[in-house]
Amino acid sequence: MTARELVERAEEVAARAYAPYSNYNVGALVRTTDGREFEGVNVENAAYPLGVCAEKTAIVAAVAAGYRPGDIAAIGITASPCGGCRQWLHEFRIGEVAYRASDGEIKVATPAELLPDTWDF
Ligand code: THU
Repeated sequence: MTARELVERAEEVAARAYAPYSNYNVGALVRTTDGREFEGVNVENAAYPLGVCAEKTAIVAAVAAGYRPGDIAAIGITASPCGGCRQWLHEFRIGEVAYRASDGEIKVATPAELLPDTWDF
């Protein structure tokens, strides 16, 4: 799947976001190294800080199915990932991150490019 296809699939998924407070729908599509796909959307809450990002819910779905760091080949996201999500992308050693940048272009980056000089435990 190309970066464009990953992002366009994520854009379809974003229609199922639950974002009644920001009205900002985000979608993500994870592709594992063995070819499976997991979808994620942002899910907000009336207690605002409790909301979760689309990248996290996609990764959580993959982890619940048994996938671990190194098992995710790529992720497509409808927007540039936030700082916290960049740490998640780093944690799971995702090979390729494709996203729709604010200028409308599709960008591709590695987690290291998105979060240089990373902190590790
Ligand atoms: N959001 C994401 O889902 N992913 C990001 O990387 C940035 C922000 C969501 C969180 C919130 O529901 C909405 O976008 C507005 O911040």
